[in-house]
Amino acid sequence: MDFQCRWGVCLMLLGFLYVVSGAQNISLGRSLLQNVARTPPMGWNSWNHYGCNINERIVRDTADHLASSGLSGMGYKYVNIDDCWAEPNRDSNGRLVPSHSKFPSGIKALADYVHSKGLKLGIYSDAGYYTCQKQPGSLGHEQVDADTFASWGLDYLKYDNCYNDGSKPEDRYPKMRDALLRTGRPIFYSLCEWGVDVPATWAPKIGGSWRTTGDIEDKWDSVVSRADQNNQYAQYARPGGWNDPDMLEVGNGHMTMDEYGSHFSIWALMKAPLLIGCDVTSMNKGTYRILSNEEVIAVNQDQLGIQGRKVSKWGDLEVWAGPLTNKRTAVVLWNRSNSRATITAKWEKMGMHPSVQVRVRNLWRHRDLAKYHQGSLVASVKPHACKMYVLTPVS
Ligand code: GAL
Repeated sequence: MDFQCRWGVCLMLLGFLYVVSGAQNISLGRSLLQNVARTPPMGWNSWNHYGCNINERIVRDTADHLASSGLSGMGYKYVNIDDCWAEPNRDSNGRLVPSHSKFPSGIKALADYVHSKGLKLGIYSDAGYYTCQKQPGSLGHEQVDADTFASWGLDYLKYDNCYNDGSKPEDRYPKMRDALLRTGRPIFYSLCEWGVDVPATWAPKIGGSWRTTGDIEDKWDSVVSRADQNNQYAQYARPGGWNDPDMLEVGNGHMTMDEYGSHFSIWALMKAPLLIGCDVTSMNKGTYRILSNEEVIAVNQDQLGIQGRKVSKWGDLEVWAGPLTNKRTAVVLWNRSNSRATITAKWEKMGMHPSVQVRVRNLWRHRDLAKYHQGSLVASVKPHACKMYVLTPVS
């Protein structure tokens, strides 16, 4: 009896230790996922410019240009292959096979090349039977696919939502997270379920970013509407997980430079992933000037990791703002109307006491305003353009 009792205690203890170590593994795993998402991811993705017309030469040339143009040194590290990279059938071991015609050297060789440039390589799959362009999906193949991606040396997975089985994304997406964690390789996990099931409320436990919107287009209305949708979920973003209003269209040619400047400024302020979506091998000066603004990038990558949001609005004239480290505040005066207008940002709307005196840095002009400001900041802004500042308290 006494003996049995001691055995019972031992078993209970063992059970307890098992549960505790299991929980520890999961939380270690989660921190692995979140460590790669301390700040919003930056890089490039093939979809917005190339669609399905991708191949290994484009990916290598892109990596070369990100490195030689200096963009990679500013933080643009991920080179992400989107849909249309695979053969229609898996191999005899159930593994995904890169398209023989588009990626004849294979993805592993491409990852080695991209890594040799100091960059990281990302890929795309789908939490359904097929991807949106009818490649094989990863539903039911999560572990073999995660293992394949890890064996190729990949660093990022965008996971789409087409042709799924009708089950809830909050049940389907964790399976790939767990599979990625089991590989032991830190792979950024980017959820792309288009915001349908309000991922901001459940995805922070699952991935490093989650799409909050449908697909962006290279059009002003698309930028404006995606910004507003993403803004609703500002409270859920934090270091480790970010709202994703979709990739950048800067440089794709259907908006003006003022519109692209607004797009980039608002994405940076919202702590959105900054994934370039144009052909970086033939960027013009204006596109490069926008994408390489290190003062705007610094707002996006600020360690505090608080998403800036819309704080006031008069018709189409808006002020967006958010706190930064060292008691600073980033602010964007955004003119969404069709004519030049004066916009006023008031301290109290931005969570600052009206008596605070600040130094004002204009991030697009790269210079401080001559005078300190107190209580408010007023500027004239061109149609569809914005002005972006960082306010640093001096008193
Ligand atoms: C969509 C996704 C796009 C792109 C496309 C590829 O679902 O939102 O960003 O990945 O699929 O087919």
